Amino acid sequence: MLTFLRRSLQVLALTTLGSVGVHAWAAETTPAQQLSLWSANAGQPGRVEQGLVFFNAKQGGNWSCASCHGTPPTQQGKHASTGKVIKPMAPAFNPQAFTDSDRVDKWFRRNCKDVLSRECSAIEKADVLAYLLSLKP
Ligand code: HEC
Repeated sequence: MLTFLRRSLQVLALTTLGSVGVHAWAAETTPAQQLSLWSANAGQPGRVEQGLVFFNAKQGGNWSCASCHGTPPTQQGKHASTGKVIKPMAPAFNPQAFTDSDRVDKWFRRNCKDVLSRECSAIEKADVLAYLLSLKP
């Protein structure tokens, strides 16, 4: 009886942990929704060409987006200083990309500061996403 109870508790604990894990990735948006959001904020649609240029440009510093995400970002990237593996950024190659707005906001904020020493503007985000969505297998 005691063993059974302990076992049930273990299962309960694991199930709870499992759902926390799922929650960490909210998946409440889509890449297309994110693109319309930033295009609306920018007052113009994201542009593939500008996104490509922006993604590969070292904006006066040492790094471009491509330094960590690779170019084109259709394969795993590698963090320029830590070597950590980064999932492909183009949504067609990574179903999780741009599906969690908190996560997207967090990384945009952090990475834009690393590359540009400021946050990216709405049009810069729209351009990057238009470019990423144009990448197909
Ligand atoms: C110094 C390394 C580095 C640079 C430079 C960098 N990133 Fe990232 N970026 C990361 C890491 C690490 C992640 C998290 C990836 C993971 O967990 O697989 C990430 C994730 C992201 C995500 C989240 C995508 C998603 O939904 O999963 C966005 C958006 C992003 N980066 C945008 C940019 C943009 C735009 C630039 C250029 C201005 C840039 N990054 C440059 C390291 C970098």
